[in-house]
Amino acid sequence: ETPHNNFDSQTSHLILRRLRALGVFAELLPCTTKVNELTWKPKGIIFSGGPASVYDEGSPHVDPAVFELGVPILYGCQEIAWRIDSTSVARGEAREYGHADLDIVKANSHVDRLFAGLGDGIPVFMSHYDKLVSLPTGFVVIATTKNSEYAGIAHEEKPIFGVQFHPELEHTPRGTDILRNFSVDICGAEPNWQMGDFVQLEIARIRDLVGDRALVLGACSGGVDSTVGAALMREAIGDRFKAIFIDNGCMRLNERDEVKEKLAQHLGINLTVVDAGELFLSRLEGVTDPEKKRKIIGSTFIDLFEKEAIRIEKEAENTPNSGKVEWFLQGTLYPDVIESLSFRGPSATIKTHHNVGGLPETRLTGLLLQLIEPLRLLFKDEVRAIGRQLGIHESLVNRHPFPGPGIAIRILGDVTKERVEIARKADHIFISKIKEAGLYDQISQAYAGLDTNRSVGVFGDQRVWGYIIILRAVRTKDFMSAEVFNFDHSFLADVSRTICNQVEGVARVVYDLTSKPPGTIELE
Ligand code: XMP
Repeated sequence: ETPHNNFDSQTSHLILRRLRALGVFAELLPCTTKVNELTWKPKGIIFSGGPASVYDEGSPHVDPAVFELGVPILYGCQEIAWRIDSTSVARGEAREYGHADLDIVKANSHVDRLFAGLGDGIPVFMSHYDKLVSLPTGFVVIATTKNSEYAGIAHEEKPIFGVQFHPELEHTPRGTDILRNFSVDICGAEPNWQMGDFVQLEIARIRDLVGDRALVLGACSGGVDSTVGAALMREAIGDRFKAIFIDNGCMRLNERDEVKEKLAQHLGINLTVVDAGELFLSRLEGVTDPEKKRKIIGSTFIDLFEKEAIRIEKEAENTPNSGKVEWFLQGTLYPDVIESLSFRGPSATIKTHHNVGGLPETRLTGLLLQLIEPLRLLFKDEVRAIGRQLGIHESLVNRHPFPGPGIAIRILGDVTKERVEIARKADHIFISKIKEAGLYDQISQAYAGLDTNRSVGVFGDQRVWGYIIILRAVRTKDFMSAEVFNFDHSFLADVSRTICNQVEGVARVVYDLTSKPPGTIELE
């Protein structure tokens, strides 16, 4: 295992993805992790870059014991140098940002291994502010660029390497080779991490955790994460896994019937549907603050899970599957985990995802339910690969994601039944048109949201004052960044016309052109 140290860098997950694509298993940890708290010994450690200067007050630093572990260390030039000799790092006056050509300095020693097999003048991407002004004691230069004497440094004897550029970015095309040289050749990590192993290992882990009596409750939304999670649970513990679908009144058109039917048909899962639309909408009445909405929805879900847990235990009494509901399945993915790993703590949270933050753990533990998160180490595309491996139907595996809070976070402003219905109808039209045009699989996520500000329009001879529908469609691999999908104008014009004609209460349709970042995929 080659864990990474995360300094709140926006790109550290890319290091992880590149390593996993090489078959090297890697985990991301907060940079402040204490070495003596690790329950296993890593084969190597990579410090990511990060926005903080080593000179900033409160800037994060690694536990000095990391250097005593005796395992190879890579990257984070300034942190490595600062820890060893703080005078070698100077506060930068100008940010060096962009492309540079890397010249490798041959030394005929172990330090050559990091760049083995790479020619000279390889393009790299630089983004740093502080810089090295001298070599820390014991280090030699292994690479330079025109503007940087110390673009790469290495310890003469120990396997410690610092680079001033970003090996994880696309603009460093040989970055994967550098990461392979480090993880496989220098650390000796075996590149044998595979999804196939993951399924078997995870099923064994679930059986071990849950034991042979406890029941597991899981909310299935029909999305790929909860479906794959449910399939793993079913495979692991059979009927002791209890799947429920809570209709929060903010689901897509026909969602609940379709999900129930598909899960029964493809996975043999008998979904219990809880119809709670009225309850959710009444609790959301008049609430406009996005975080409040998410929290209300999250805690209403918990109330209902609690009720269901009690009902299920009662129902199971005197059957071969009688037992206590001790576990609660969550479809948490790695990006959620990364977000909650910030060394700055929960205050750095961008949104309360109801997967993680919105379901307060204290309440779950108050209920004595423990979380079971079989997908917590995976990215979305890895979850899809596992779904296919488990034989889950393409229509479920390839579904665009849908957030737990549903249409409620696609309505800018307070949520009412009427507004949900309008957004739902518009969404159905948009998605149906996308499917008809054969574009569904080219788009990672699309939906229609609603702005509760109203706009004036003229329909026939009548002045109307109606809502604004916001169409959003993005392409992304991991949902951590995303680009806007490029439709033909004529396609969008047709969608707009159809929505205005068929959905009463809408006066205008707009297409959102904001990428992520800065926009998020959902409106709230
Ligand atoms: P954002 O809006 O943060 O969304 O760019 C990234 C991905 O996460 C989904 N999302 C959620 N999923 N509960 C979920 O289960 C949530 O509270 C939630 N919020 C956002 C979003 O649909 C997108 O795929």
